[in-house]
Amino acid sequence: MSKEIVVSGIRSTGYLHLGNYFGAIQNYVLMQENYECYFFVADYHALTTHPDPKELKSNVFRVAAENIASGLDPNKVALFAQSDIPEIPELYLMLNMLAYKGELEKVPTFKEKVRNHTDNVNAGLLTYPVLMAADILVHRAAKVPVGKDQEQHLEMARNFAERFNNRYGDFFPEPQVFRFNNDAVKIMSLDGNGKMSKSENVNATIFLSDDDNTIRKKIMKAKTDAGPTEHNSEMPDYIQNLFLLMQLTSRPEVTESFKNSFNTCTVRYGDMKKQLAEDMVAFLRPIREKAAELQKDEDALRRILKEGADRGRASSSKTIAGARKLMGMNYY
Ligand code: ADP
Ligand code: TRP
Repeated sequence: MSKEIVVSGIRSTGYLHLGNYFGAIQNYVLMQENYECYFFVADYHALTTHPDPKELKSNVFRVAAENIASGLDPNKVALFAQSDIPEIPELYLMLNMLAYKGELEKVPTFKEKVRNHTDNVNAGLLTYPVLMAADILVHRAAKVPVGKDQEQHLEMARNFAERFNNRYGDFFPEPQVFRFNNDAVKIMSLDGNGKMSKSENVNATIFLSDDDNTIRKKIMKAKTDAGPTEHNSEMPDYIQNLFLLMQLTSRPEVTESFKNSFNTCTVRYGDMKKQLAEDMVAFLRPIREKAAELQKDEDALRRILKEGADRGRASSSKTIAGARKLMGMNYY
């Protein structure tokens, strides 16, 4: 039986952080064994904010290196840069004819950009979900490992697939969100303000490239409070986030013991953060060191991306040929 197809991408807009790792990459690594995987650096998507060309290039290489350092094996998956697959913009153009201005304007991420970046509300920002749908549908993927923040975009990809199928004949599967343990992991910023992200408060974001002392400093400054005053109180979300990070990086009995002390109002957040900091340092060190080593060998990374692009193109050119035929654009 042929393997199910999986697609996912990460924008090359900066340094990867714990949210990217636990929300996305960890699932990629688990999926690579049993699925046909296409993972890419979304450099076209990064263009919405007009990055400096020099930075864009090093960002693309770093994102690729950090994915590999996190356990992605380029022999098992196709790892490539989005802009190396010309079939993606081709399908994007086709899907744009099936996407409506009204629905695109209603997307929360677009509305947020309009509110916060009034000086650059370009058409690429408006059609961001269409490009994302093209990334996925160009391989006719069934499963998409992404964090919770991307669910709405995925729903739009399903809508575009369905519209295409209704108009031209059944062709695209409707891609579903995929997570191994079924829980959507969402890592909050350490200052308690929204999700951890590449571009928000860098002092409250732990990057995969942070050195040991930076990790320690950031965790020790994470938001806490005076602690609970009643047994088994509900945890504020920023405390929940620290427990989540602990669960993801510390030994189970360590997390359990701090949970008990929370429930009995004896928790000392200073001690908890110290423990978390040391476990996080041990967790991230090998990833950081491997990523740094990979980035030193640009030729090797280039070869990996080229090979990934060849595999990505083989899959997407078949899809485009099929789509063109259904649309009546098979002239030769
Ligand atoms: P960012 O929001 O930092 O720019 P991307 O938009 O490139 O990151 O997201 C890449 C992947 O990482 C997506 O699958 C996204 O859902 C996931 N992701 C990003 N931030 C978080 C977070 N704080 N918690 C969980 N998953 C996240
Ligand atoms: N929009 C995604 C994000 O911001 C990145 C992305 C682009 C993506 N194309 C994709 C994710 C295709 C999954 C599949 O996180």
